[in-house]
Amino acid sequence: MGISSNDPLLLRAARGEVVDRPPVWMMRQAGRYMKAYRDLREKYPSFRERSEIPEVAIEVSLQPWRAFQPDGVILFSDIVTPLPGLGIDMDIAEGKGPIIHSPIRTQAQVDNLLPLEPEKSLPFIKTILQALRQEVGNKSTVLGFVGAPWTLAAYAVEGKGSKTYSIIKNMAFSDPTILHQFLGKLADAIATYVRYQIDCGAQVVQMFDSWAGQLSPQDYETFALPYQQRVFQQVKETHPDTPLILLVSGSAGLLERMAKSGADVITVDWTVDMADARARLGKHMKVQGNLDPGVLFGSKEFIRDRILDTVRKAGNWGHILNLGHGVLPETPEENVAFFFETAKQLNAVSC
Ligand code: CP3
Repeated sequence: MGISSNDPLLLRAARGEVVDRPPVWMMRQAGRYMKAYRDLREKYPSFRERSEIPEVAIEVSLQPWRAFQPDGVILFSDIVTPLPGLGIDMDIAEGKGPIIHSPIRTQAQVDNLLPLEPEKSLPFIKTILQALRQEVGNKSTVLGFVGAPWTLAAYAVEGKGSKTYSIIKNMAFSDPTILHQFLGKLADAIATYVRYQIDCGAQVVQMFDSWAGQLSPQDYETFALPYQQRVFQQVKETHPDTPLILLVSGSAGLLERMAKSGADVITVDWTVDMADARARLGKHMKVQGNLDPGVLFGSKEFIRDRILDTVRKAGNWGHILNLGHGVLPETPEENVAFFFETAKQLNAVSC
């Protein structure tokens, strides 16, 4: 796959090409803030149905595409979706997030994990990604995504979301051998899954290490960074041309370390000024972000000012405009529409 000017804007920007304006998409752009999604949720009340029945997942992924024409269309799925394929049963509970019925705590459980065979356990992903590529053609970029080893381990060990991460930190700081084996197996499975998503049509893949910001920098270097590197290295061996994005929530103290992960693009959240992020990451690193999702509760003028401020600070190379994390469920849809319209009217001259 060579570089082609027919390729969509986000893909070209993520590869480091000079483009006329920063491409724009929003994390969690499909979901609860959209009425169309809430209506469909009544018909398909279980998240696993909505994300694993291909026709439904395709429809949900395309709802924001039809409404706003973002430069990126992300697969509607969840980071825990591949876990059943490893032998870790899960559900996603309304308002709570992932629930793991038998949390991973013992050596025997880690030994018994299955190697991931995506063709067998995740066949719906192929149908969804192929349909998304077909639908958007070269007008937008299809993004795949995965959870990172530390964040998936946090769910699998805790059994659910956590505020303190006490169980996994107990394991990490008192008896880390089992945890390191688990993180290694997760890294290999996730690399396999990223390769599969790319083979099925994903043009850019984002890895969410949402809970790695809960670690101190020194523990990030032990429990998160090496396994991010293991995933990205394995993917780059077979798919060197596919740009890879990394997100860590609350990453202000970790940005320089994230840059060592092997990701092509680092997501920056709103606790860091974009100009500072540029200075800290160096001019060769591409960045994504970084508006506070709460900005979308502000007036149109306020939203426009914040877009312009971010774009000016990011400069005119290697920037994917985005929020610093997912759009909030209470966000007015018309403000999302305004965000996209404004961002798409920018051009190199006005910034
Ligand atoms: O951007 C997109 O349109 C894709 C949507 C997407 C979902 N999950 C759908 C979803 C993405 C990118 C994810 C990834 C994900 N899942 C992450 C990483 C992103 C991040 O926020 O850091 C995490 C930590 C999870 C785990 C998870 N799944 C949580 C915390 C929740 C929310 C619980 C709640 O109800 O607030 C889920 C469920 C989930 N995944 C929802 C959506 C739209 C909400 C449930 C619903 O709509 O019924």
